[in-house]
Order: sequence, then C-alpha cells, then structure tokens
Amino acid sequence: MTPRQSIHGQWSSRLAFVLAASGSAIGLGNVWRFPYIAGEHGGGSFVLAYLACVLLIGLPVMMAEILIGRRGRRNPVASTRLLSEEEAGHAGWVLLGKLGILTGLLILSYYSVVAGWSLAYVWESLRAAVPGVADDAAARFATVRGDVVTSFVCHSLFLGASAWVVARGVARGLERTVKLVMPTLVILLLILVGYSLSVGAVRDGLAFLLLPGRVELDGDIFLAALGQAFFSLSVGMGALMAYAAYLPRGHEIGATSAVIVAANTGVSLLVGVIVFPLVFAYGVAPDGGEGLVFQTLALAFADMPGGALFGAVFFLLLSAAALTSAIALLEPAVAWLAEARDVPRRAAAWWVSGAVWLVGLGTVFTFGAGPETAEDTTTYYAALAFITSDVLLPLGALAMAVFTGWVMCKGSTAEELGIGTGSRFRAWRSATRLLVPLAVLGAFWLAAGR
Ligand code: TRP
Repeated sequence: MTPRQSIHGQWSSRLAFVLAASGSAIGLGNVWRFPYIAGEHGGGSFVLAYLACVLLIGLPVMMAEILIGRRGRRNPVASTRLLSEEEAGHAGWVLLGKLGILTGLLILSYYSVVAGWSLAYVWESLRAAVPGVADDAAARFATVRGDVVTSFVCHSLFLGASAWVVARGVARGLERTVKLVMPTLVILLLILVGYSLSVGAVRDGLAFLLLPGRVELDGDIFLAALGQAFFSLSVGMGALMAYAAYLPRGHEIGATSAVIVAANTGVSLLVGVIVFPLVFAYGVAPDGGEGLVFQTLALAFADMPGGALFGAVFFLLLSAAALTSAIALLEPAVAWLAEARDVPRRAAAWWVSGAVWLVGLGTVFTFGAGPETAEDTTTYYAALAFITSDVLLPLGALAMAVFTGWVMCKGSTAEELGIGTGSRFRAWRSATRLLVPLAVLGAFWLAAGR
C-alpha cells in the first residue's frame, strides 16, 4: 500500500504525538471527574474496576483507534470510509466516525463549563487570601457554580481559547504547551500528595480509595468504571484517531499507547491520593457530586501556607490541561469540515465552537438554576454526562474494536500495529475480537437489568 499523507501536516516526532495524546488524556477527567465518580460509587471497588477496564479494555481500544487513524490518514469519517472500502467492509462504518464527532462535541459542551469553574477558581483562590472569605468552601462552590454570569463568561472564554488554538492548527503550539503544562502540573500534584498525606485522614482516605468491598461490584459500577476509563483515556470518539492521522509511520503503536495509558492512570491515582485523605479530614461527603474536588482543594488551599497563590497557580494549570483536552475534542469535527466540506480550518474551528458554545449554555443554566437542580440526576447536564460517557463512548469503543478485530483483515492490522504476530499481537486481537465486545455489551446488559 502506498503511504498516504494527511493534508494537515504531521507531528514532528513520535514524542510530539505522545505529548499531544497525553495532553488530550490528562485533564478534568483525571482531576475533576475521577474522584467524584469514584466517590459516588463507593471508592475501592470502583477504582479496582476502573484500573481493570483501563488495562484490559482501554489499552487495546486505544491501539485500535490509533491504528485506524494512522492507516486512514484522514479525519475520522474519511478514515473509516476509506478503510472499510479497502477491507471490503460495509459502507455503514462511516457512522463510527460521525457518531464520534457528535460525541466529542457533546462532551466538550459541558467540559467547557467545568473548565470555566476551574478558571473562576483562579480568582476565587486569590480572593481566599482575604480573611473571612475562605470559611465555607461548600457555599463558595455553590456560588461559583450557581452564578450564571461567571459561568457564562468563563465558558465563553474557555471555548474561545480552544477555538483559537484549533483554528491555527493543532500541531502548532500544542507540543510546547504540553511540555510546559504537564510536568508543572505533576510537580504541583506531588506537592499536594505530600500535603495531603501529612495533614489528611490518611488511613480513612486511602482505605476508601483502595480497599474494595465497601459496596458490591454491580453493573452500574462496572459501566461507570468503563465509561470513566474511556473518558479519561480520550478513547472511543475519534480524538486519538484524528491525532494519529498526523503520526509518522514506523513507530510501534503498542508501546506508544502504553506510555499514554501509564501517564494518564498515574495522574488519576495521584489525584485520588490527594483528594480522599482531605475529604475525610474535612468531613466533606465523598459522594457529594461534581463539586467534590473544587470544595476539597479550596479547603486545603485555605489552610496551606501560601495556599492562595498555590491554589491560583494550580487552577490555572488545570485550566491549561483542560485546554489541551478540549482541543482534542474539537479536532475531529474541524478536520472533517475542513477536508470533506472544504471549509477553511479557521472558519471551521469557529463555527464548530460556536455550536458547542450554544449546547453548553444548557449546562450553564442547569447549574445556574440552583442547588436543588444541581443535585437532581435528571437534569440536562446529568443526562448529557450519562449519554456521552456511559453510552456513546462505550459504543464507539465497541465499534472500533469490532472494526479492527473482525472487519479489517489480520494482515493489515498486524502490519500497522508493528508488534509482530506473536503473543502481544494475539492478546490484542483477542481483546478486540472478544473481550472488548463482551465487556461493553455485558456492562450495558447488567446496567439495564438493575
Ligand atoms: N480525556 C480528557 C480528560 O480526561 C477528556 C477528553 C479529551 C476526551 N478528548 C476526549 C474524552 C475524547 C473522551 C473522548 O479530561
């Protein structure tokens, strides 16, 4: 096969791709979503299921997704179309690309609102240096979340920044940003681990995080763990597929994926070790929902020496980490509009972001409507969060696994993965052919039958 080229250029090296993919993976999913979902599902059992899902399901699906993108070298819609033609598959497989684009935009619509809270907390943290302001973290979070004007402004700012970067082309600037943001974020997290282990309720916190058995592992927890694995790894919607289209040939996809998975899982676990000892020390309810991290960290920053400044820097970095994820959520749609509809990249980036911004207003108003609605599980936000991570991402992942495991012929996948045809290839192939489909369908079935 003659190697194809992407019209959007290439990453300068494998490192650039690993950085971009890790930048996409590491974000609010690790810092905000992981602790709150783990807290809502009783801790240890969920965390164990999550780790198993990451390794056994997430990793092979990530390899499948990168494989499709790099072989197709186009946006997810065109790559799935091209490969299904080449492999004599059904034309309907383009739906995989299209559904992924929709999923990404729906995720971004609320992701951007939460990233907006993180931006708002930069200012909130500084303000906490004023005596008397820091007293009631729960009330302060409720104020930030409930303040429609602040949410609206921060949501708009964040999406505007994402659109601006994507308009210029993702390869430009992303590498440098990730190189700066990720190591600094990890250093701050390590300092916070030290702080939490010295002042937190370490025993209770770590027992909650790591010991299974407090609640029984059921279909609900399993599906939530699967959804969180896909969400935090950025797999199942085509973001990595779009990035992999710009990946130079000749690198081994298995090792590349393993590095991304390891970095991402490491960050989630660090955050867990920070958050739960503090949760128990401050008496915050672990199942308190989407405010968990904001409240807990705000309490810690209020007590820490220099915490106001440290907190502001932390939330600024978190917003930057969210930005490198938001870019990945936008890229498939923008690449598709630019390639298939001949829209200039710049215009495509702004149009798509504008649509996402509108959809996101629903989330702004959900939380703006007051604390009662915020706790309700039938709101606009709760419905979107459930449909995207617990339905659409697993469906996308299932489709990618079936496509690479059953539709593509063994030879082309082996050639593209570059891990030979030995035991590692066989393990990947059994995962995509059997394990992933069984796990996703099993999780749907168990969760539906509760
Ligand atoms: N993984 C990111 C996070 O953890 C969010 C994200 C970026 C994402 N791209 C994605 C989630 C693609 C699902 C699919 O913050």
